Formats: sequence, structure tokens, C-alpha cells
Amino acid sequence: MNPDDLEALIHRRASGMTIDRAREVPRDVVERIVNAAVAAPNHRKTRPLRVAVLQGESRLGFGEAVASVMSAQGEDENRVEKARTKYGRAPVVLVVASAPGESDLETAENEYSVAAGIQNMLLMIEAFGLTALWSSPVKGAEEEMNGFCGFPTGSRMIGLIYLGHGTRETPPRDRPVPEINWLN
Ligand SMILES: Cc1cc2nc3c(=O)[nH]c(=O)nc-3n(C[C@H](O)[C@H](O)[C@H](O)COP(=O)(O)O)c2cc1C
Repeated sequence: MNPDDLEALIHRRASGMTIDRAREVPRDVVERIVNAAVAAPNHRKTRPLRVAVLQGESRLGFGEAVASVMSAQGEDENRVEKARTKYGRAPVVLVVASAPGESDLETAENEYSVAAGIQNMLLMIEAFGLTALWSSPVKGAEEEMNGFCGFPTGSRMIGLIYLGHGTRETPPRDRPVPEINWLN
């Protein structure tokens, strides 16, 4: 791959949530996507990445676990009901978490590393011609999510990635050119 190809891929990537729920993503493709995340830098080789792949019924089970926390937190009933089924909107949901560190700094650096790993995954997803959306985990439900996914207690939820085949083209994004302070 030359720089032009990589640059085009990076800029073509766009979030999308119009996903065909019924069309599976082959397991080896999911594995290759997830494996791309380990190539992100991680300080002191802490290997902080934690990933669970939700498919089939587990998406609804995860939604139930989240919804019961939301309900106990007194959240709006409509939002709670939505949470029960929302993870079924894609055939695959990647739950991505980061291991806590031995200090606040290490915990933060682990999170940066996992976030960088998610971008690697999103680029692989784009390269496979698939669609994804990085969504924020529901606040206050981390331990239930950790438990459901088999992650150690204290793991930090970084993102839930909806993944599948898009049902329509995502329009090109208009992204601002970054301001660079060139210093000599
Ligand atoms: C930490 C993080 C959390 C996000 N959470 C959500 C979310 O909860 N819901 C959502 O629709 N998009 C979420 N996004 C995706 C952004 O909304 C999306 O990347 C942004 O709109 C820019 O669009 P693009 O990815 O197509 O460039 C999140 C992105 C990041 C980095």
C-alpha cells in the first residue's frame, strides 16, 4: 500500500448506523479486525485491550443487563426500553474495554492505547467495505458490562462498536484541515 491509498482509506472512513441486521460478518473477518487493535502503541507494554464480540442472543442479554442498571438508576423508561433492544441493530457489537493501570497515569495511558486500537479496527472495517459506529457505553453500568463480557472488575469501558454491512453509502465527510503551529 502506498501513502495515497492509506490516506484515501483514512479519509473515506465514516461512522454509519444503517446496518443490515440479518447479514452476518464472517468470524475470520471479525478476528482480523480485532487483531488490528493490538498494533496500537501501549506504554510499558501493558497490553490493556479487552474485547468481547456480541452476536446473536448475547446482544439482547447485554441490553437487558444494561437496561436493568438504567432502571435501578431511575432513568427515563423510554431510554430503558430502548436499551433492551438497541444492541440488536447490528449483527456484531464489539465491546472494547481497557485494563486499569497501577496508577492513574497508567490507567489513562491504557485508555489512550485502546482508543488508538479502536481506530485501527475502524480502518480495517473500512478496508473490508463494512460499516461501523463507535458508541458510548451507558454511564454507571460498567461493572455489569464487565461481568457480562467476562472482563476483570475495574476494566474501563472505552466503546461499543456496532459492526456490519452498510445498507447505504455514507456521504463523504467534510472535515476541517487541522491548524498546525509550525515552530522552527
Ligand atoms: C469516544 C467516542 C464516543 C462516541 N459515542 C457515540 C455515540 O454514543 N453515539 C453516536 O452516534 N456516535 C458516537 N461516536 C461517533 C461520533 O459521533 C462520530 O465519530 C462523529 O459523528 C464523526 O463522524 P465520523 O466518524 O463519520 O467522522 C463516538 C465517538 C467517539 C470517539
